[in-house]
Amino acid sequence: MTSPESLDDIARDVQACTRCRLHQTRTRGVPGEGSGTAEVLFIGEGPGFNEDQQGRPFVGAAGQLLNQMLDRIGFRREDVFITNVVRSRPPGNRDPMTDELAACDVYTVRQLAVLKPKLIVTLGRFSMARFFGPTVRITQVHGQTTLWNGITCIAMFHPAAVLRSNSPAMRQSYEADFQRIPSLLEQLRTQPPAPKTERAVGPDQLDAARAEPGPKQPRLL
Ligand code: URA
Repeated sequence: MTSPESLDDIARDVQACTRCRLHQTRTRGVPGEGSGTAEVLFIGEGPGFNEDQQGRPFVGAAGQLLNQMLDRIGFRREDVFITNVVRSRPPGNRDPMTDELAACDVYTVRQLAVLKPKLIVTLGRFSMARFFGPTVRITQVHGQTTLWNGITCIAMFHPAAVLRSNSPAMRQSYEADFQRIPSLLEQLRTQPPAPKTERAVGPDQLDAARAEPGPKQPRLL
């Protein structure tokens, strides 16, 4: 019998990955980091300049805001797992392309299979589209949950968007959304697992964040 893979196996594959064009321009692949027994997985968009240099997710200004939010809710960065929907930096921090999202999705699937988190926190449009489907707008679903393959997902703004907006209202919403995490997790710890029959988002839908979303809403919990 072959032994199950580890997060380190996946990290090695990401660092050597040539599945999409981004490997040609990246400095380092950024697999993600955190606890191998994390109950909560945070998933952002893709590495920026600092992440590309260091090979670690969310280490720049957006990462500092993420760390601050984690601290506020009494979580330590090393107790959660943090990754991105693309793991090599898009040049100039452009949006990830459809085929890049699809190519990198195998690592999301593998990390989820190892971690089996109780809660997925999507940060920004691209990871939201991955788990909430192609038709939603982040301004409408942030702070709300849906089920993906039996796992509860909650949508949050991207910390870089919060910083960029400089809007006190957006910052307030962001903080309020984050405050939901501890009680939600507590609830998920005590309730029986949800059936794994919920809508799965396929690679053809991974580009949804770029498309103009229509008015249809996902099934929010
Ligand atoms: N933005 C992201 O989406 N991910 C990172 O790792 C850093 C910035």
